[in-house]
Amino acid sequence: MKTAVIGTGYVGLIQAVGLAHLGFKVIAYDIDISKINALKRGNPPIYEKGLKELLHQNRERLFFTTSVEDLKDSEVIFVCVGTPQDSQGKANLNFVFSAVENLKPLLMGKEIVVLKSTVPVGTNRKVQQLLGDKAFVVSNPEFLREGIAVEDFFNPERVVLGFSENHPEWVREKMFNLYRFFLKKNIPFVVTNWESAELIKYASNTFLAMKISFINELARLSEKVGADIKEIARGMGLDSRIGNKFLNAGIGWGGSCFPKDVSALIWQFKEWGIEPKLPKVTKEINDEQIPWFLNKIKKHYGGNLNGKTFALLGLAFKPYTDDLRESPSLKLAELLIQEGAFVKGYDYVEGTRENVKKLVELKASTRHSYGLIVYDDLNTAVKGVDGIIIAVEYKEWNRENWKEFSKLVRNKAIFDGRNILERILVKKLVKEGWHYEGVGVNI
Ligand SMILES: NC(=O)c1ccc[n+]([C@@H]2O[C@H](COP(=O)([O-])OP(=O)(O)OC[C@H]3O[C@@H](n4cnc5c(N)ncnc54)[C@H](O)[C@@H]3O)[C@@H](O)[C@H]2O)c1
Repeated sequence: MKTAVIGTGYVGLIQAVGLAHLGFKVIAYDIDISKINALKRGNPPIYEKGLKELLHQNRERLFFTTSVEDLKDSEVIFVCVGTPQDSQGKANLNFVFSAVENLKPLLMGKEIVVLKSTVPVGTNRKVQQLLGDKAFVVSNPEFLREGIAVEDFFNPERVVLGFSENHPEWVREKMFNLYRFFLKKNIPFVVTNWESAELIKYASNTFLAMKISFINELARLSEKVGADIKEIARGMGLDSRIGNKFLNAGIGWGGSCFPKDVSALIWQFKEWGIEPKLPKVTKEINDEQIPWFLNKIKKHYGGNLNGKTFALLGLAFKPYTDDLRESPSLKLAELLIQEGAFVKGYDYVEGTRENVKKLVELKASTRHSYGLIVYDDLNTAVKGVDGIIIAVEYKEWNRENWKEFSKLVRNKAIFDGRNILERILVKKLVKEGWHYEGVGVNI
């Protein structure tokens, strides 16, 4: 079966490489020439663990192109372009519709166009209307997690497929045949209509964001009353009805999906005349979280951060990704800089450091100066600072040489924005004279 992917970003590239690994011939198309050129040379433009190896392994089944005509004769075409938020917070569907418009003249009436992009309810129906009888539109929202995207491709927790009641049976059969690898693995399939499939995606992301916002709000109370949010989360999470995932208090959620998807769901409620209560509060709590944490830091320095230097550990929105979109760490950096502080950034992923360096260069070209420097070496980042701020939940921070850090820093203070340092280590560090502050924890 000849397949195609439109958009070679985090979702499209993983889909292309994953399908090729399952034995399908895949044509991957993008309008970004630099991305396609890099891919032709065997260099993924994004960092995901195992991606480069998989790309090399399956090169003979992968074709990268910037010309849409090459998609002709593909039987199943996955639309994986971005759906960022517009200035109001709604999902911007320009990329989706532009991709579909470009594809339309090539279609012969037997193709399946699969929307993998996260799109608001009603979009699959609109795309079908636009394509008329030239193709069959299927909704197949993506749930991969950046950082472990390759692993997630081969081991999804579910596959969601949304069909129209008017689709002929062979459309379903072809999709099941394409995804037989997952069926054989007994991965649950949710086969439903377009609207449910679209909402499953938004509901899942918003629900996860809500869990985080809940624990973050509770962390503020926990801190005040002398409770410990880590213990509370453990006590809650052992209840299988609640579960322990996404209950870690911290500086809040970010990334390329949660912020825009929560926002887009808020709009979908509004557009259908329903007041979006939980999604709205979920967002509000998250918007407050970084300023709340910054205040804690400020308090430690008597309310004034002017001239202070901080090591900022972790720069993307989560570990092992180079995706900087809506990174809470970078938002915190921006606020620290506004307060007159100087920030020395470090992340374990080289691609992340490189992306932040480019961003800093860009900012420095539009402003007189920008107070963030990224270091390739952790010790250099920590040297001479007034405090260490942990902004991304790498477990590896626990194994670092804190004895050495003691000698390097100017002032022994840790602000653990992810509560990631283990209790035993924290107790030891406090004994050795470090000031430690987490989110809602009491040491
Ligand atoms: N990133 C994630 O973790 C993730 C997870 C699940 C779902 N999603 C959803 O998947 C979609 C894609 O997300 P992403 O993170 O991969 O985006 P991305 O920005 O990384 O990639 C999108 C790609 O589409 C290309 N593109 C844009 N318009 C095009 C066009 N007309 N023709 C061809 N290519 C075009 C861009 O050049 C870019 O390379 C979004 O709707 C997102 O919400 C993302």
